[in-house]
Amino acid sequence: MEEQTALIRLDDINYEFPLILGTEGEKAFDIRSLRTKSKFIAFDEGYGNTGSCLSDITFIDGEQGVLRHRGYPIEQLAAKSTFLETAMLIIYGELPAEESLAVFRKRVSSSASVHTSMHHHFEGFPGNSHPMSILSAMLNALGAYYPEMSSNDRDQDLAHFDETAALLISKVRTLAAMTFRMKKGLPFVAPNHSRGYCENFLHMMFTEPYFDYIDSVGAGDALDLFLRLHADHEQNCSTSTVRMVASGGANLFASVSAGVCALWGPSHGGANMAVVQMLEDIHASGDDGTRFIEAAKEGKAKLMGFGHRVYKNYDPRAKILGKTVEQVLTQIGVDDPLLNIARRLEQSALEDEYFVSRKLYPNVDFYSGILLRAIGIPPEMFTVMFAIGRMPGWIANWKEIAENPKGRIHRPRQIYTGHGLRDYQALEKR
Ligand code: CMC
Repeated sequence: MEEQTALIRLDDINYEFPLILGTEGEKAFDIRSLRTKSKFIAFDEGYGNTGSCLSDITFIDGEQGVLRHRGYPIEQLAAKSTFLETAMLIIYGELPAEESLAVFRKRVSSSASVHTSMHHHFEGFPGNSHPMSILSAMLNALGAYYPEMSSNDRDQDLAHFDETAALLISKVRTLAAMTFRMKKGLPFVAPNHSRGYCENFLHMMFTEPYFDYIDSVGAGDALDLFLRLHADHEQNCSTSTVRMVASGGANLFASVSAGVCALWGPSHGGANMAVVQMLEDIHASGDDGTRFIEAAKEGKAKLMGFGHRVYKNYDPRAKILGKTVEQVLTQIGVDDPLLNIARRLEQSALEDEYFVSRKLYPNVDFYSGILLRAIGIPPEMFTVMFAIGRMPGWIANWKEIAENPKGRIHRPRQIYTGHGLRDYQALEKR
């Protein structure tokens, strides 16, 4: 069969470019030779039409609301898996056998403590620092404690990859809990290696001198689901930042630290905190959501937790959380008025022409904050929780970059729209 190509006519010259077909029928034409051949570049602000890489990790069909990691639908992973198992799937490509999962679990649990001299880093932060600023700084600082894993020598960093991956998944959780304690002026709680991943996190967050935190209501399971649902999401803002930083040869610690910064903004991971703030404001104002929806339609406000660059249908993670959140609240014994407001907002938006015509549906952040609130996590920490969940995705994407012998530094071009040539000497003669 004749090989298909894309034909582009520029300045009366025809150029042919090969087509690329993804496993799920995703189509692209390969313009890597475009500038060399034609002197043209493609302009795509926001990268909505640009494939920046070939990746085996996650597949999203935004029109159909499909999300799969390494081929497994998110619904199945949400129902059957655990965060650590899903992390291994995302990082290594296969669901692990019992033995290798046990090795990984042990590696994660034995890496939970941080060097005591790192405790002093926390003292340097003002009490009102944002937890995301602390987390990003701490993850980068962590690399300095492991020079053999953060050498920026690709072969050496890859030789230590298994250790580094488990260490980061473990310590990001410890650093997050320490950040929470530091901001509350509470002493740090050492990890308890006999507890599972989420139980240990809750212990480091909430144990007090005369109160050993015991999870009797299934908060750990709810948290595990939250983390699983955030574990990876293709080439989003923070993951493509991780890949960008990694493409210059930077180590995994530096790359994920940059990922935390990229995640912070309200259009990305910061949305979960913004949703709860929005629901609280609506609640305090006595609005049933109608006024807020009208303001959003007039462009005076944004319905946080709604809309997505890729999903033009329900975000499948929001569907799972929307169904689960009520059950979790009942189990934990919390009656949150914000849940009713969220449900009303969702209903109104899904019936409103403005949202329907723009294909705006709830995204993962719409219900996740209500779940975290029920567990006792304050809004300021929500995006940190997202970062803990996203760590496997960042690690897997760093690995893809690091293991690609043909990989090139990521360096987009631009269309310059500033002044034409100016003469400094003319200025001197004024
Ligand atoms: N509320 C009201 N209008 C909206 C919203 C919203 N949440 N989102 C998009 N629109 C409108 C937007 O104003 C535009 O209208 P018009 O065509 O009249 O100009 C239209 O819908 C298309 O929006 P867009 O800005 O082109 O969409 P985008 O792909 O550039 O942005 C987004 C995607 C997620 C940044 C945006 O939908 C948004 O800001 N949502 C709220 C923040 C949020 O929930 N972010 C979390 C994203 S999911 C988690 C993650 O992956 O990080």
